[in-house]
Amino acid sequence: MKTNNKKIKVAIVGATGYTGAELIKVLLNHNHVEITSLTAKIESESKISDIFGKFLGQCDLMCKNLDVDEVAKKADLVFLALPHGVSMHYADAFLKKGLKVIDLSADYRLKSLEEYTKWYNIKHKDVDNIAKSVYGLPEIYRKEIKNAELIANPGCYPTVSILSTLPAVAKNDIGLADVIIDAKSGITGAGRKAVLSLHYSEVNESVKAYKINEHQHIPEINQELSNADGNNFEVSFIPHVVPLNRGILATCYIKYREKLDANEIYNLYKEYYKDEPFVKVLDKDKLPEIKDVVHTNFCHIGIKVVEDKGLVVAVGVIDNLLKGASGQAVQNMNIMCGFNEEEGLI
Ligand SMILES: NC(=O)c1ccc[n+]([C@@H]2O[C@H](COP(=O)([O-])OP(=O)(O)OC[C@H]3O[C@@H](n4cnc5c(N)ncnc54)[C@H](OP(=O)(O)O)[C@@H]3O)[C@@H](O)[C@H]2O)c1
Repeated sequence: MKTNNKKIKVAIVGATGYTGAELIKVLLNHNHVEITSLTAKIESESKISDIFGKFLGQCDLMCKNLDVDEVAKKADLVFLALPHGVSMHYADAFLKKGLKVIDLSADYRLKSLEEYTKWYNIKHKDVDNIAKSVYGLPEIYRKEIKNAELIANPGCYPTVSILSTLPAVAKNDIGLADVIIDAKSGITGAGRKAVLSLHYSEVNESVKAYKINEHQHIPEINQELSNADGNNFEVSFIPHVVPLNRGILATCYIKYREKLDANEIYNLYKEYYKDEPFVKVLDKDKLPEIKDVVHTNFCHIGIKVVEDKGLVVAVGVIDNLLKGASGQAVQNMNIMCGFNEEEGLI
């Protein structure tokens, strides 16, 4: 694929979902991209601007049912913004036609087939491509992303959880004992399909925990923190739904066996992310807020160290639809195509 100065042609499969719509919005602002196809699973073809009024006059492409041959003829790269269990039926066909693929679902994130089957309860239909996929978290895998054909774009909870704990876990010479992640997500995290428990009147003016230590994003967090730690690593993960449209706040309790030096931990985080365009470690003892990152591709992290208890509380915030999904997908595309990593995202 020739890139750099010319525009690349991009297709979005799953364009009627929340992450699909967010991809359209970001890519309309991108100087090196032309959107050539939008598809979904729809009864009748419609202009995307009839589905999402915000694209009126900005993008009037028709949203069609997926025809791999037709989409592939017109694109260099395809985003699969599809549910897990669906992407695995299409990624290989696009790869074989020479397209680069960025999959936003969980189908290629877990390297262990056993873990995928256990947590998603589905038989994987494209096992060969799991090994070829690169986990698309640029803060860890930027070099591998550059040459990847298939990106497994990380989940929203894993993105903020991994980024908030990674520096502490990677420095495992200071007696790490346990990591507990308490995360709170806005409703768009569950996608656009209608679900009774996510209706406005069910979630408004309330907060609830769910799937305590049973959420399907747990193996993804463990996989990446185990790689960083060098040992099998298991977090405890407690997700919550909060009455916001978008945004996640993860409070990560990182417990050590010994007393800590607050300055050392703070400097560890600062140093770890000093060259990262989209991760900002706040000044010492300042704590992040969702409202500061919503509609951006940034992850903000605040650190509080309770020295005598050997406790680091790392609080991370992201927009689940941007750094947690479509923004990160475009960040990955920029790296794969040799564009400025921040193009379309700042
Ligand atoms: N929402 C988030 O914050 C977030 C964050 C990170 C990752 N993700 C992941 O990203 C993926 C997309 O999420 P989303 O929130 O955008 O979901 P969504 O709002 O439910 O949208 C799913 C899209 O896939 C299409 N689709 C569903 N089944 C299909 C099929 N069998 N064939 C073709 N198209 C099909 C839907 O089309 P119709 O509308 O026509 O049914 C829709 O366009 C999911 O795997 C999700 O886990 C989501």
